[in-house]
Amino acid sequence: MPASGTFGYGTEYADLVAVERLGAIVTKGLTLIPWEGNPQPRLWETSSGVLNSIGLENIGVEAAIRERAPVWATWTVPVIANIAGHTVDEYAQVARQLDEVEGVSALEVNISCPNVEKGSLEFGTNPEMASQVTAAVRAATSLPLIVKLSPNVSDIVSIASAAISAGADALCVINTLRGTAIDVGRRRFRLGRPAGGLSGPAIKPVALHMVHRVAHAVKVPVIGCGGISTTEDALEFIMAGATAVQVGTATFGDANSMIAIIEGIEGFMRCNGVTDLSEIRGIL
Ligand SMILES: Cc1cc2nc3c(=O)[nH]c(=O)nc-3n(C[C@H](O)[C@H](O)[C@H](O)COP(=O)(O)O)c2cc1C
Repeated sequence: MPASGTFGYGTEYADLVAVERLGAIVTKGLTLIPWEGNPQPRLWETSSGVLNSIGLENIGVEAAIRERAPVWATWTVPVIANIAGHTVDEYAQVARQLDEVEGVSALEVNISCPNVEKGSLEFGTNPEMASQVTAAVRAATSLPLIVKLSPNVSDIVSIASAAISAGADALCVINTLRGTAIDVGRRRFRLGRPAGGLSGPAIKPVALHMVHRVAHAVKVPVIGCGGISTTEDALEFIMAGATAVQVGTATFGDANSMIAIIEGIEGFMRCNGVTDLSEIRGIL
């Protein structure tokens, strides 16, 4: 499935990618009211990744329900709405609005965005706050709940456990790693803010390690995310314990990279006599 924020609301890609072949669509993070995001520049390509400082620009939950959900409802592919907020109550309100919306199959709670001043990452770096936001969203919806974790922590397992105790049905591991880049000639940061979030191949080993740690410590499904751009990358995450994977930055280089990965996994299974991914999941 696509990683949130790299595939719009799914609808933008429908003419380019056979969206119905994907495991699910994950939307850009939705907030209570539309957010404008951060000052430009918001993207900087590094030697093996991308720094972004989008700042959760989005159309807001009401517009998503009004304009996008009717399209999602016509698809057979499940749509997972990624949600964010400045406060626990904002998360709960967004979740409540999305509950029972036709076309929305699950929520992914972003408690790990490094690009907003207030909220998001604050909730994902402290077990008590991760627990509070998860419990509030859990109380606001009957939809399946995925909590998306940050790598910018000293002990990701403690945050994972707190989210599960508060009602998470699954986890997504990981969001971007905080980073920056400097234009030496102009003596300025490359992004409009002093820091952004690093994604792409550069973060794959970190993500893989965290997925391995979390998947072996918890009993709920873990969605692996971070630097996946090839079939082999995806299989590494599955062998590390991921139930499913998300692809983000790789889509910017090739809109159809997810389809190539799905076909590659099918080919790997055929060539290696694997009839069900559970035969290789978490074998390490
Ligand atoms: C431009 C951009 C925007 C993103 N927006 C969101 C977002 O709105 N919500 C979220 O949970 N993660 C967001 N992310 C993080 C990705 O979903 C993903 O966790 C991260 O990029 C690592 O995966 P990748 O290396 O495959 O890109 C964004 C990433 C990028 C590059």
